[in-house]
Parts: sequence; C-alpha cells; structure tokens
Amino acid sequence: MLTRPEYIRKSLETNLFFLRIMKEHSFFLEAGFVCKDANLIQQAELFKNAFNALLTETVNLANGVITQESVASQEFVTNNTLPAEQITQNLSGVPIDLNLTQAELALAGNSANLNSPQLESAVYYLNQRAIALSAAIAQFKGVVLNAVLSCNLYTTLFPLLIDHIRREAILFNISLTRLQSGLNPDDPAMAAQLEAFWNRIMGEHSLFIRNLLDPTEEKLFATAQSFANQFKKLTAEAEAADSNKSAINAVTKRSLAAAKSVRDFNKQGTELILMCKIKSIIIPLLADHVTREANHFLKLLKHFEMKV
Ligand SMILES: [Fe+2]
Ligand SMILES: [Fe+2]
Repeated sequence: MLTRPEYIRKSLETNLFFLRIMKEHSFFLEAGFVCKDANLIQQAELFKNAFNALLTETVNLANGVITQESVASQEFVTNNTLPAEQITQNLSGVPIDLNLTQAELALAGNSANLNSPQLESAVYYLNQRAIALSAAIAQFKGVVLNAVLSCNLYTTLFPLLIDHIRREAILFNISLTRLQSGLNPDDPAMAAQLEAFWNRIMGEHSLFIRNLLDPTEEKLFATAQSFANQFKKLTAEAEAADSNKSAINAVTKRSLAAAKSVRDFNKQGTELILMCKIKSIIIPLLADHVTREANHFLKLLKHFEMKV
C-alpha cells in the first residue's frame, strides 16, 4: 500500500503526465475531423477543455510536491512544447492554452509538506474526476474507431493511431483506479506488462512518423522503419518474459537503450519540424507529444532497472 505522501505524489505525477496527453489527443481528434463532422469536432473540443481544466487544477496542486527527478525527465513538458504549441495553433486555428504550458514549465519539485490530509482529499477528488473523464474519452475514441473501420467516417488520423490513443486512455484509467485503491500503478511487479505496453507504443510512434513523412524523405523513412522493427521485437520479448526475473532484467536493459535512441530521434525530429527542415504532414505538437511519451517510458525503465 502507498503511504499518504506516496499516494499524493504519484497521483499528481500520473495526472500531470496523462492529462496533458489526453488533452492533446482531444486536439488531434478535433483537428483530424472534416468540416462535415462539426458535431464530433465540438465533442473533441469539449474533451480538450475538460482535460485542460483538470490539468490546470493539477498544476496548482503539484508545485513543490512532485519529485525533482520527474521535472527533470521532461515527461510533463519539454523545451519544445511551447514553440510546438504556438506553431500548431497558428497552423490549425485551434486554440491552445499557452499560459498553462508556461505554468507547467515553472513547476518545481520537492519542497511541500506531503502529510496533509487536505491535500490528500483534494487529490482523491481530482483522481475521481480524472477516472470518469478518461473512461469517457476512451469510449469516444472507441466510437470514432468503429465508425472509421466501418467506413462511415473520414478523418486524417490513421485507425491505428485512434486505437493507440484509446489504449493510452485505458492505461491512464487503470493507473488512477489502482491509485484510488492505494496501489502503485508503476509497481515493479508489473514491469514485463508495462514494458510490453510501452515498447508497442514506441514502435507505433515510429510507424506513424514513417507514414506521415513525405515520400521523398527516404532516409528518415528507413530510420523510422528500423525503430519500428526494433520495438516490435522488444514488445514480443517483454510479453514472453512474463514473470521470469532475469528475462525481465534483460528486456529492461535493451528497452532502455532503444527508448533513449528513439527519444533522441523524436526530439531531433521535433526540432527539425519546428525549423521547417523536414517535409511531412506531421503536426509539430504530435512530434513533441511522442517525445514526452518516450521520456515517460525512460523514467519508468530507470525505476525498473533499480528495483526488479
Ligand atoms: Fe499519446
Ligand atoms: Fe502514443
């Protein structure tokens, strides 16, 4: 069972990471629908605003509470998040709350009193609403995916991407539910399972990037393909490791090396996109988004490396 300080800290870190991820998924959906589907655009916008509001609340609760390590990991915001949002807002015409990003960039770690029952109950109430909202968006993504797969809906998002962001919403929901029962969502006992999940996610990011590049970007296409192959193998290895400790240790080490490389590739890609040096239809915020998910996976792997 998590102690009160652990529950507070882990909850706020989980929300800081995933609420922004969910807010951006809402944006990707909103920008991916065509004009005819004004109703879906509006629903995605409502999700975006609801996640934005919960994230604002989380940022207010989290200052000084979270670990220095999580701030430094750049899983919440990176140095590229703000410029990526600015350009994405200009290109899409969809408004993005840049003040919230500024507040996140100013977040500091390790100074507050974590033994406060008031803070604990504020966090409990926040988690309850995040559980409801993550379940609702997972359901919405499922409805959109089915409509696309039955050819009743057109969007610029690949079906695999819609399924991918649906799985991420479900993981967020499961993590919150565990927290509300006093359990660590990133328990090292779940290392094989979580590494299978995130290695698959990393591989799919490479596939999205591969398919969103201009056909003339042959070198980047090949690099993205080789990352996809590498992560496909790692996913299978993590699945096969099950509860075998030495197998998990080996997969953790290999995943760590691969995640570092793909993070660097994603980060460099974001910077080149921001400088308009890559030909693609990748929206800048998507490139920064996948970089943050790689940073999150790296933080998780470093914990597993120490504890498994
Ligand atoms: Fe995502
Ligand atoms: Fe993702």
